[in-house]
Amino acid sequence: MSKVPVLVTGGAGYIGSHAVLALKDAGWPVTVIDNLVTGFRFAIPDGVAFYQGDIADQDLLARIIAEQNIGAIMHFAGSIIVPESVSDPLKYYHNNTAKTRSLIEAAVTGGVKHFIFSSTAATYGVPEVSPVTEDSAKQPINPYGMSKLMSEIMLADTARAHPLNFCVLRYFNVAGADPQARTGQSTAGATHLIKVAVEAALGKRESVGVFGTDFATPDGTGVRDYIHVSDLANAHVLALDALIADPARSLTMNCGYGRGFSVLEVLDAVDRVTNRKINRVLQGRRAGDPDSLISDNSRIKATLPWVPRYADLDTIIAHAIAWERKLTEIRGENSAG
Ligand SMILES: NC(=O)c1ccc[n+]([C@@H]2O[C@H](COP(=O)([O-])OP(=O)(O)OC[C@H]3O[C@@H](n4cnc5c(N)ncnc54)[C@H](O)[C@@H]3O)[C@@H](O)[C@H]2O)c1
Repeated sequence: MSKVPVLVTGGAGYIGSHAVLALKDAGWPVTVIDNLVTGFRFAIPDGVAFYQGDIADQDLLARIIAEQNIGAIMHFAGSIIVPESVSDPLKYYHNNTAKTRSLIEAAVTGGVKHFIFSSTAATYGVPEVSPVTEDSAKQPINPYGMSKLMSEIMLADTARAHPLNFCVLRYFNVAGADPQARTGQSTAGATHLIKVAVEAALGKRESVGVFGTDFATPDGTGVRDYIHVSDLANAHVLALDALIADPARSLTMNCGYGRGFSVLEVLDAVDRVTNRKINRVLQGRRAGDPDSLISDNSRIKATLPWVPRYADLDTIIAHAIAWERKLTEIRGENSAG
């Protein structure tokens, strides 16, 4: 398979930095653009060209594409906090939608042939059936999901008009960290359950809020499909292989394991792996949280030679803990862990 130089936007962030490692480990030349608004310079490994800047800077993009001979873009850069998208929707339509439009334009102008886009299960809103297939209704219930759906539509329209094919990957709940602890989720004040639970287990938080105990699930707490970030990163590399192998084909695929765990099951697993007891604070539901959100992953399994390696929940948690400890060392934080 021919390997083209890849530009990773948001490569200093949580998922992007894992994609950088997956690409590098598989021998692809990698370049990162990131404005470091929520990303970290330390997350970018040696041997990767790094440009600090904004994805909407057309002059910078033109220069990067020319200097690095970029043949494909993996686009992770964006704003990701759902409640913030409700209180400040224009930030999301600017950073996620308008700037993605600008990036796609830079790709077309620069002759980039392949584009992989980080989308989300939030494009489905509150699905009527679970597991959710790619053909389920797209009815986002917040500006974050809508900002991503609009980007998907722009990408599809552009690919019909220009020599560019694309892969939209709709992630379910991303968790865990690089098995070698080379990178991980580093955002302060993150809201992802496993990250929050691991911080609590290591004494960085007092407790973990459980939002809703009366859902239509076996234990009453919300059920989600947690996917290990390194399996997700690997799916991106395989998707790029597929785009290069057939430039006439574009793809849209769910990324999840097709099974779910409840909030209480996750917290029990963190207790088990750390041999501690997290303080749980039972609270009311948050607006718009579905009972259960599980992917139907049959399309990605039929399309790519994707074989998840880290689907075991305790493994996901163990890797998240190893990274959290490393992060404590990097930052010199005080922690009981
Ligand atoms: N984390 C999840 O569970 C999840 C689920 C579904 C989809 N996604 C999508 O995956 C992508 C990556 O998410 P993440 O969790 O790694 O978030 P993150 O905040 O860790 O990473 C985003 C990165 O993009 C950079 N960035 C943001 N705006 C930029 C801009 N205008 N120009 C240049 N760089 C910019 C940030 O500095 C950061 O490094 C996002 O597009 C997000 O919507 C994430």
